[in-house]
Amino acid sequence: MTSDLPALISDDLSPEGTPPYLTWTGPPVGTRAPRTAPACPGPRLDLDGPWRFHWAARPGEAPSGFADPGFDDGGWDELPVPAHWQLHGYGRPWYTNIQYPFPVDPPHVPGDNPTGSYRRRFRLGADWLGAVAAGGRVVLRFEGVDSTAAVWLNGGPLGLVVGSRLPAEFDVTAHVREGDNVVAVRVHQWSAAGYLEDQDMWWLSGIFRSVALELLPAGAPSDVVVHADYEPGTGHGLLRVECDVPASVEIAELGLSGRTGEDLPAGPVEPWSAEAPRLYEAVVATETGRVAVAVGFRRVGVDGGVFTVNGREVLLRGVNRHEFHPERGRALTFQDMLDDVLILKRHNVNAVRTSHYPPHPHFLDLCDRHGLYVIDECDLETHGFEAGGWQGNPSAEPMWRDALVDRMRRMVARDRDHPSVVMWSLGNEAGTGAGLAAMYDFAKRADPSRPVHYEGDQETRCSDVWSQMYPATEAVAAVAARSEPPLPDPAQDAARRGKPYLLCEYAHAMGNGPGGLLAYRELMESSDRCMGGFVWEYIDHGLAAADDRGRPIFAYGGDFGESPHDGNFVCDGLMFADRTPSPGMVEYAKVIEPVRVEAAGPGRLRVRNVQDHVGLSHLEFGWTVEAGGVEAGKGTLAVPDLAPWESAELDVPEEAAALAGSDDRFLTVTARLSAATSWAPAGHVVARTQLPLPAPAPAPSPEPVPTGPTAVTPAGARPVREAGGLLRLGSAVFDLTRGELRELAGMPVAGPRLELWRAPTDNDRLGHRPEGATTAAMWEALGLHRLTHRLVSAQEEPGGVVFTVRTAAAGLRDGVLTRYRWRAAGDTLAASISLTPQGAWAFPVARLGWTFELPAALDSVTWLGGGPGEAYADTRAASRFGRHTAAVADLHTPYARPQENGQRLDVAWVEPRGPEGGIRVSGEPRFGFTATRFSPRRLAGTAHQGSLEPEDVLYLHVDLAQRGIGSASCGPGLPGRHEVLLTPATFHLSLSPAAVKRGS
Ligand code: GAL
Repeated sequence: MTSDLPALISDDLSPEGTPPYLTWTGPPVGTRAPRTAPACPGPRLDLDGPWRFHWAARPGEAPSGFADPGFDDGGWDELPVPAHWQLHGYGRPWYTNIQYPFPVDPPHVPGDNPTGSYRRRFRLGADWLGAVAAGGRVVLRFEGVDSTAAVWLNGGPLGLVVGSRLPAEFDVTAHVREGDNVVAVRVHQWSAAGYLEDQDMWWLSGIFRSVALELLPAGAPSDVVVHADYEPGTGHGLLRVECDVPASVEIAELGLSGRTGEDLPAGPVEPWSAEAPRLYEAVVATETGRVAVAVGFRRVGVDGGVFTVNGREVLLRGVNRHEFHPERGRALTFQDMLDDVLILKRHNVNAVRTSHYPPHPHFLDLCDRHGLYVIDECDLETHGFEAGGWQGNPSAEPMWRDALVDRMRRMVARDRDHPSVVMWSLGNEAGTGAGLAAMYDFAKRADPSRPVHYEGDQETRCSDVWSQMYPATEAVAAVAARSEPPLPDPAQDAARRGKPYLLCEYAHAMGNGPGGLLAYRELMESSDRCMGGFVWEYIDHGLAAADDRGRPIFAYGGDFGESPHDGNFVCDGLMFADRTPSPGMVEYAKVIEPVRVEAAGPGRLRVRNVQDHVGLSHLEFGWTVEAGGVEAGKGTLAVPDLAPWESAELDVPEEAAALAGSDDRFLTVTARLSAATSWAPAGHVVARTQLPLPAPAPAPSPEPVPTGPTAVTPAGARPVREAGGLLRLGSAVFDLTRGELRELAGMPVAGPRLELWRAPTDNDRLGHRPEGATTAAMWEALGLHRLTHRLVSAQEEPGGVVFTVRTAAAGLRDGVLTRYRWRAAGDTLAASISLTPQGAWAFPVARLGWTFELPAALDSVTWLGGGPGEAYADTRAASRFGRHTAAVADLHTPYARPQENGQRLDVAWVEPRGPEGGIRVSGEPRFGFTATRFSPRRLAGTAHQGSLEPEDVLYLHVDLAQRGIGSASCGPGLPGRHEVLLTPATFHLSLSPAAVKRGS
């Protein structure tokens, strides 16, 4: 193959030339087999930093002769390595999900193929050349170049880098010289390799991972393969190390020593698991060099259809992780990677699928160290062939077979020493075909110790687990009950029934969401056939940019003028692009918390350890009791050290039980780390549960409940007409032309106005219903976004006034009749509201509630109800009843594309306040509120979060019901129980002025 080299990477291009290697469909040319990541026994020269850089729109416009060491690059720019050139002002980022951004014409690539020429000068000392003279080798290693590159050293062609997220090594022993050396790299945005790399993400190019020169001294160990097994029965470890040269092996801590190639019994060891990531240091040495390897003893298995680690069934509570940073793209720093691992650990996540390519190798070091199970996925996706019925799919075409197997080989070679890697994955959405089968066979031969995953093959011919994405809960329930529809081939059906079941993707976290996590958790725990799942996905891929008025935004598909593109489908993470957790992440952390507390009858609690390997001795438990949101007592809770999945019943501590009452008393049990771990400080909360603490006898309320409408006597205020069509009732002023409030105790208050619409969430907007259209489109057809209100009648009564208002949309017949019966007593104004739909109203609405417009000066809100964060019918696990206070600005959730957000549930009263006082709104039954400076129309009509301008008003939405969230942007429809049907309803509301300091 090396003989093809000069022709393949000729630097001598005609002005319009396309280098032949851009359509090369084999493995990279000229590279050596990559070593396992940590094994470099000699010095390393880091080549990261500024490189000389030239960008051209086409290969033929790239400077020729640039690989010559004497070439004058004085006029060139500088570009950092690692980086993507599009994020430094060259070319532009391009987002597509499934479709290729170039014609499907494999293996050909567009003539307009942005090309980056890189040059870097470095010096080598006599020591390096001395080591070479003594038989040492020098290796030039690239950790990742997107998408393909040709490489020269000192003018000599070395070969090609192919496989963007895979390492490539060149033996440059014969090319290096003492003193000045020049490495030249030509990188192209499009290449045949791109047909294998159609992942749902930004197309970003360049040398985006590190480059280094490594010295491998003669006779030193330079490639080390570790087999570190754990025998669950005996608790003993077994070590075997294979190496490219015979060497000694030692784990001093275990008193273990021996030779490479031998089975070395390690005696009793502490096994490695994500919950207890115990590592030992092994030293592999010869006389000329040594390498240290972190070793974790563990055994992964599929035993009787159950996925196990160290003989114990394991439930993966995972996320799909793309590498992403809003400024750096996929060129992550070590700090970014550490941030990710710590964020995941602190949110109770125990597993990562490296969707859809091997991550930077340092990320795996961190997973080993801090404890995360990893499905290491190969750099392969050919989804763009699906639309054409998979015709010509590289997975099935012989000419791509070697390239596919080579990708698997390089991933396994790089990552096999990581205990965190518990499974290999062939790739994502690459159809089926002989190439995938060959990858599978290769992996099983090269590393029989790990199961192999591939979702694209639902018959599981080349997967050791049965993996699915985005099934509805009904389908998961059928699998859990072993009653799924059979495969046509009985033998294959039997084979699949013998395999564990994985949700490699579920709960699409796009925008507001995902909803319904709890239902999936329950199903996964209901059957040992289920091995857990991975939420799609960890982080939004919004790129830091500015809108047309210079306001900072997170950009998504189309924002760089690219076409075609897939819009904000690239922003579907549990984390916002700036690595702040979205409410979805907070919800997920609660749903997968490692300890569960539930009520077990009067005065009793059940505590359950839902970890797979460790007890509870690293946790300390405490309780608090709150009455009406105010802390009434607290203490510690003695919880026995329960074994994995064991539970125990406890008495509610006497002191807490004594505080029981009927007025919103809650017991909250919190589990915290009793000592610091590598991933969180002591005191970090891993689990928190709130339970009602009812008392047999009612206890006095700690604060007066606002006077409700039924308590207002008819002898209340007398309505008085005023000029301008106004009506005064106590301290309230009504607008008789609209049947709405105008003012309360001197404060402007407009409303309440019936609201049935919300700014569609991404799930509302993208999820198609059985009827065909999306939910948001159906709402538009019903006119929910343009309702008008007509006062039907205004009737004064002794002590009050009754308004009847009809709400309907232009052009449509169906409407809603709402009757507001107002009463006032003192400063309190109360309404009995009853609502009667007129017409069919068969289709669910977005919400059933009322909106008030209040002065924008009310900039902070206190409420008694669920919080502190956002919650909807199916995203409420993390919401706790209490007295919460937040600035209006902080009640808003900054989804990359604005949409419905910020609701708080189960609210007894809400009190927006400003410097001049505020207003308290109480309701019966309890309601959801949203306090925001953005109307639903403004949210729906603004493309980017950063472009939202607050309105000069505070909208207070008080909702009897609001549609749930679900995951329909890429998944099943919302379960019917979370839809809101318009039916007759009643609601009691009371309003009163709030003093400046009240409620804090
Ligand atoms: C899956 C795919 C992911 C992502 C997701 C939707 O089909 O595997 O890469 O595209 O859908 O966000």
